[in-house]
Amino acid sequence: MKKVLIIYHSQTGNTGAMAKAVAAGASAAGATVILKKAVEADDKDLLDCDAVAFGTPNYFSYMAGMVKDFFDRAWPTVREKMADKPYVVFGSYGGGGMPAIETVEKICDNMSMKRLSDSIGIQRQPTEENLVACKELGKKLA
Ligand SMILES: Cc1cc2nc3c(=O)[nH]c(=O)nc-3n(C[C@H](O)[C@H](O)[C@H](O)COP(=O)(O)O)c2cc1C
Repeated sequence: MKKVLIIYHSQTGNTGAMAKAVAAGASAAGATVILKKAVEADDKDLLDCDAVAFGTPNYFSYMAGMVKDFFDRAWPTVREKMADKPYVVFGSYGGGGMPAIETVEKICDNMSMKRLSDSIGIQRQPTEENLVACKELGKKLA
């Protein structure tokens, strides 16, 4: 059974709702799912999983500080061990589009991880349709 890790931060619940939908999709497709807030995750989570989804809101045109903190802590250990590990990125923004998501993609691409799918950026609160797209993302990861 594949192990899918979902690491995210969410202050007002929008990215959190997306994370739960990604988790539901991966679980429905038969994966073991680990859903963690970035502040609770560490390098071992990343090393242990078969695929990973990163969720971040757009805060000041960058990933959320908690997600950056996760990368700061995990990167020294994992940087040489992530090549070809499948990943996707998702998140919510207010009006400023996808730059936060791109900052996560840049780190993952630098570690030669394999982007499985286009990232999903949603403006503010995800609709039912958006959540279906997040579930599909989870299925793809599984
Ligand atoms: C500290 C802070 C900074 C933000 N900066 C931006 C920004 O630069 N661009 C943008 O589009 N939205 C910005 N927003 C809006 C959030 O991205 C938006 O409300 C998002 O839906 C929050 O997701 P969450 O509920 O998962 O925390 C900011 C929100 C906060 C709290």
